[in-house]
Amino acid sequence: MKLPNYEEAKSRTKVDIVYKDVNIKYEEVFKNKKYFLRTYGCQMNVHDSEEISNYLIMLGMSKTEVLKDADVILLNTCAIRENAHDKVIGFLGRCKHVKKLNKDLIIIIMGCMAAQEDVVKEFQDKHKYIDIIIGPNNIYDLPKLLLERQKGQNIEVHSNSDIVPENVKYHRDSKISAWVNVMYGCDKFCTYCIVPYTRGRERSRKKEAILKECKCLIENGYQEITLLGQNVNAYGNDLYSDYNFASLLEDIAKLGIPRLRFVTSHPWNFTDKMIDVIAKYDNIMPYIHLPIQSGSNNILRKMNRRYTKEEYLNLVDKIRKKIPKAAITTDIIVGFPGETKEDFKETIDVVNCCKFDGAYTFIFSKRKGTPAALLKDDTPLEEKEKRLATLNELVNRYSKENNKRLLGKMVPVLIMGVSEKDNTKMYGYTDTFKLVNVAFDKAFIGKIIAVKIIDAKSFSLDGKLT
Ligand code: SAH
Ligand code: SF4
Ligand code: F3S
Repeated sequence: MKLPNYEEAKSRTKVDIVYKDVNIKYEEVFKNKKYFLRTYGCQMNVHDSEEISNYLIMLGMSKTEVLKDADVILLNTCAIRENAHDKVIGFLGRCKHVKKLNKDLIIIIMGCMAAQEDVVKEFQDKHKYIDIIIGPNNIYDLPKLLLERQKGQNIEVHSNSDIVPENVKYHRDSKISAWVNVMYGCDKFCTYCIVPYTRGRERSRKKEAILKECKCLIENGYQEITLLGQNVNAYGNDLYSDYNFASLLEDIAKLGIPRLRFVTSHPWNFTDKMIDVIAKYDNIMPYIHLPIQSGSNNILRKMNRRYTKEEYLNLVDKIRKKIPKAAITTDIIVGFPGETKEDFKETIDVVNCCKFDGAYTFIFSKRKGTPAALLKDDTPLEEKEKRLATLNELVNRYSKENNKRLLGKMVPVLIMGVSEKDNTKMYGYTDTFKLVNVAFDKAFIGKIIAVKIIDAKSFSLDGKLT
């Protein structure tokens, strides 16, 4: 049993990274059993669930969407904000009930909540019906722990992982668009954020392994690859002296994937070389998610974001000059401890200046174990909610304005599948990552086609096949 440990996660001992081949074959011990898997949180978790699915299928299981039919329930959890945590705890109540009806049911907690020291203690004390807890740094332990589970509650969380798993196999959800991890963990330690503790030390995969995976995806007909990392553009800094994220982007673009994307970029690691590479290759999509978090230098300093408002604006300016087509989106937190009305006004000013294509906005949420959780926070929730509403109104106005500029234009759209809301429509994304709905024609799924934009809203576009 190995428990999560924040001190260990924080210490970041610089021992050498071990590149571990995790491709082990297992017998179909769970043949005819069913698993129910629910995923919370970011794209990284969504992709981790593709790895989890692969292990379960390898053990002989098949997927069910019906909770009470499951022999194994897996929750791939997120710890980023209080409401993410609450959703999981709420759903666990239902799982506990199902276990009362089926004593053999196995309940497994994975994801970032599995790496929170206090949360795991709570699971041990109050949620004894949970059978297995596995941290996000050792997902590959899943088959082993499932086979060992008869021994009682099993907990395995490698907080400060010095391992990079290689040769990971995935059961990918899409045949069109694929995620590729380029690095794990985060060393930025923004003061509000739990991720550096749950995901551990920043560590890059070797470029050869990434290129091999991308080549294989292209050979299998994938149209799009999205490179993943909490700080995707810090890639290579821990591993190479002369190879970085810009080099990797260029090498993957040259392999000839029709569309290449990446998330999430940290402004501090966004180099001029990256801008040049994105501008140079037509298959690197002109879409950049660039979280600013706040427009106030005072707050940015307290957040430990490592850039000023001026530096951020200068970066956006450079991107717009060299990649005029680029869509830029962002993340913003309101109500960080000590945020004054003036600080908030500066955030509004920056939004007015950048006119983002979109923004994910959040009210600050206290995360136990992070430095910001200890700061005095005397702004009432009501005031924070008012700030969020003001911000959202502005953000949505700019999204819509930017979308309206596409009206009447022909844009390239990668058609992903049938729209969930309306099965007479297909949905896809523009090069600038805007959602487009178009009349249904099965022949176009998985293809990049020119679509004429006929209507524009804040969050989507309507298109017409011509
Ligand atoms: N690695 C990415 C983002 C990871 S989390 C980056 O650095 O930009 C996604 C977003 O959640 C963050 O950008 C931030 O806006 C928000 N977030 C993180 N911790 C939060 C907290 N404690 N309260 C509110 N929002 C938070
Ligand atoms: Fe969290 Fe900051 Fe790391 Fe992003 S860069 S994951 S916000 S600590
Ligand atoms: Fe959530 Fe962990 Fe992602 S906290 S946002 S699942 S890295």
